[in-house]
Amino acid sequence: MTDRLQLIRTLDQNKKPRHIAIIMDGNGRWAKERGKERVYGHQHGVQSVRNAIEGCGEAGIDFLTLYAFSTENWNRPKEEVNALTSLLVKTIHLELDNLMRNNVRLTAIGALTDLPEDCQEELRGAINHTAENSGLTATLALSYSGRWEITNMVRKIANKLAKGSLSQEDINNDLVTGNLSTSGMPDPDILIRTGGNFRISNFLLWQIAYAELFFTPTQWPDFNKDELWQIILDFVDRERRFGKTGEQVANHQ
Ligand code: FPP
Repeated sequence: MTDRLQLIRTLDQNKKPRHIAIIMDGNGRWAKERGKERVYGHQHGVQSVRNAIEGCGEAGIDFLTLYAFSTENWNRPKEEVNALTSLLVKTIHLELDNLMRNNVRLTAIGALTDLPEDCQEELRGAINHTAENSGLTATLALSYSGRWEITNMVRKIANKLAKGSLSQEDINNDLVTGNLSTSGMPDPDILIRTGGNFRISNFLLWQIAYAELFFTPTQWPDFNKDELWQIILDFVDRERRFGKTGEQVANHQ
């Protein structure tokens, strides 16, 4: 076991992050730097997905949410979109045993019905198969965007208002949170973006209100467990104030 993982395991449970969200960026550039097509980068990105899932499991993290395909990604060249959805089908199929062995529960958020039928089917199968696992919940964000999700939430609440099952006074933080696709999950404590850009790119806009942000120049195919664990350790060293003063936090007020 590496020193970093050992250190994480000695941490106080309430100091540890519960939910890590990752914007996996840099596959295309990683491939171009090697004189290959972008798809080559996505193929190598699969190993980093495996590492992130295993690394979170080993560190005792409860939730990992991966931005695998955004609403905007549909605008990429057709060959790349097809390659990505095929890779997804193949990876889910091949990884199922691994997920079961690691006690991982797979879930997905996004406009899943926009995905090709075989992709939906593979995904549904793996979600059902892993539903009773009690370790890490790994969520794939697919055909997802934060604005899509917020728009949906508004629609759901408006619907309940119109039907009279809700009144305006019922609208609060918890109601909004409960009508998002991440309902039931804690907000991410950590948001990581690989690939060297400093953007949120429409990911979990409501949920990351108090997340600690980590931007790394590492391209996604090179992201490994040690870097993930270092980020967890750096997170523990950051003081989270949630709008309070440093003194209030120190005195648990
Ligand atoms: C961003 O890199 C990455 C994606 C749009 C896709 C992420 C997909 C994978 C890691 C592989 C399959 C995923 C799963 C869950 C099995 P980019 O293409 O935007 O890179 P660039 O910024 O260098 O162009």
